[in-house]
Amino acid sequence: MRAKNRSMSLIKKIASRFQTEQTIPNRNVVRNSECAEFEVDAWRLSNFVVEKLVPMVGVHPFPLHELMLLSAAVCHTRPVQIFEWGTHIGKSARAFYETVIHYDIQCDIHSVDLPDNIAHVEHPSLERGKLVRGLKRVHLHQGDGIETSLRIWRNSGSPKPVIFFVDGDHSVDSVYRELSAIVDQVPTPTVLLHDTFYQSSESKYNVGPHKAIERVLNEQRGRFRRIDSGLGLPGMTLLYPA
Ligand SMILES: C[S@@+](CC[C@H](N)C(=O)[O-])C[C@H]1O[C@@H](n2cnc3c(N)ncnc32)[C@H](O)[C@@H]1O
Repeated sequence: MRAKNRSMSLIKKIASRFQTEQTIPNRNVVRNSECAEFEVDAWRLSNFVVEKLVPMVGVHPFPLHELMLLSAAVCHTRPVQIFEWGTHIGKSARAFYETVIHYDIQCDIHSVDLPDNIAHVEHPSLERGKLVRGLKRVHLHQGDGIETSLRIWRNSGSPKPVIFFVDGDHSVDSVYRELSAIVDQVPTPTVLLHDTFYQSSESKYNVGPHKAIERVLNEQRGRFRRIDSGLGLPGMTLLYPA
């Protein structure tokens, strides 16, 4: 009986230590910012992703490594504005919101989806933005994602740093149009794109977003650096100023 009590208290001690490590707020996960390579403290960021993001948004459509890339991009950029489309039910918008709140980043999140009268296979209808409705720093809009975002960005004085999250229509033409408009009109954007995983043709995957990125990067040689989530579908790519 005594031995059982002793081992229970040992387990409790270890658990409470683990808990403390997990919940220590840390506002600085960026490492070696004076060095050439993008780097975050991946252990600390993992704690944030597991404790805050996963309970809020799950791991679909954004698996763990994509939630890591998304939140790392936010911590690294410390944007004043984030523009994202499409909103759908608001999972990515909620992930951005939780990240800027936790890391104390003064940032407005603008999320755009198509108007209700425009047909799109993925349009969320009445569910649009349900995970972010009423949150103070999240603004929901309806319109074309890139046009609406760039208009709001310009009308607010073209502030920087700024992040764009491209997750609307996933055809090669749509992603090329949207990414080209960003890099043409915004001097130093950070861009995240979704559904960008590349696999060879036997997979029959839609590799349109991947092709669009390749094309834009070829036209913009040397202007951006790139991190791909890799591993599997759906895939997320980060482009940041070189
Ligand atoms: C894959 S879902 C986005 C998932 C969402 N980011 C999330 O976190 O759950 C694609 C969304 O993009 C929207 N969409 C498609 N084309 C668009 C466009 N040109 N502008 C804005 N939204 C668009 C669709 O209506 C749909 O809600």
